[in-house]
Amino acid sequence: MCTRTLLFAIIIVFLGASCKEVSKEKPLSQHIRESTDKGIKDWGNFPIGGAINVRKALKDRKLDSITVQNFNSITSTNDMKMYAIVKEDSIPDFTRVDSLVSYTKKNGMRLFGRALVWHYGLPKWISKTTEEKGAAWADTFLRKYIDTVVPRYKDDVVAWDVVNEAFDTKTGAYRKTFWYETFGKEYIEKAFRYAHAADPDAKLFYNDFGQEKYPEKLDSIIAMVYDFKNRGVPIRGIGLQMHLEMDTPEQAIADALKKSAATGLLVHISELDIIFNKHNDENDGGEQAITELTEEMKLAQAEKFKQVALLYRKHVPKAQRFGITFWDFNDRDTWIKPFFDLKEWPTNYDENLDPKPAYYGFIEGLVTKIEN
Ligand code: XIL
Repeated sequence: MCTRTLLFAIIIVFLGASCKEVSKEKPLSQHIRESTDKGIKDWGNFPIGGAINVRKALKDRKLDSITVQNFNSITSTNDMKMYAIVKEDSIPDFTRVDSLVSYTKKNGMRLFGRALVWHYGLPKWISKTTEEKGAAWADTFLRKYIDTVVPRYKDDVVAWDVVNEAFDTKTGAYRKTFWYETFGKEYIEKAFRYAHAADPDAKLFYNDFGQEKYPEKLDSIIAMVYDFKNRGVPIRGIGLQMHLEMDTPEQAIADALKKSAATGLLVHISELDIIFNKHNDENDGGEQAITELTEEMKLAQAEKFKQVALLYRKHVPKAQRFGITFWDFNDRDTWIKPFFDLKEWPTNYDENLDPKPAYYGFIEGLVTKIEN
């Protein structure tokens, strides 16, 4: 073979090899779908959470394996709420929380505690005793409650939602709850100070819903956060529940994230799900306009989940990304259906606990390159 022919042959072989390389490159979506050994948590660079009912996860093998595969952070849906810990009297029952702690330990997951103070589902005996004994009793109770719960889990729980939903549904006013009626807005600050004294290392969050939907509410929350920072109230993070609707504008999500991040605190998307119908935010059920889930809707929802991940990465600086948590994360168990009395499909897994396009869409949002 002459030198020229040899050179030609080498070039052909080289081109052939590099063409093979190119054809090996799969589209991103296919690559994600084929990486069945990975979960959502393996694609991003911040924690990915799931809200669970630990008894369900322990009983249901498929649910358990989805939980372990996808999440490195866990929130309890209800078991750490005050009404679950002190149901009938002031003697706390920690059985479920303890079992949650061993579940997260066994699986090497971060445990997020919530919520120390929330108006919804306040045990009746607390308001009744306050009526009889007065605000001083309620103050002692609150301090004692926080002093009992927080230190008990100080090695297990890295962060707490200290107060949940202290603002009105749609406006910037404080919600007139039992706690507000008893102490005025000072109860929020009290709870943060008690929690900090109980575990100075715990990262303390304020959590609420609808910041992306109601701008006045967002601004009031942000104003409270700056006020806390200025006066040394020990707040470390803001939780945005983000129970979204398909037509929640991306600009609105971006604004809520940007304003939260501008405070310098950690930012947690704490309860993500996305519905096709409408919530009635005053809890009187939802507005059922859509009753069938089509393939087209599934793809649109995937795109929306992708956008949420992209927006979070774009607007929350790395050091402030506490993570994104999915509430219930499957269409079988989602709280949305009973709570709003809706036929709905708001999560990443379907009723049979199989991944929906939304599952892959969100992951695309974690890995797609963004311009900052
Ligand atoms: C929900 C639970 O998922 C339901 O099981 C329960 O009946 C009501 O609370 N915002 C919150 C969460 O802060 O605690 C709520 O969780 C969902 C809305």
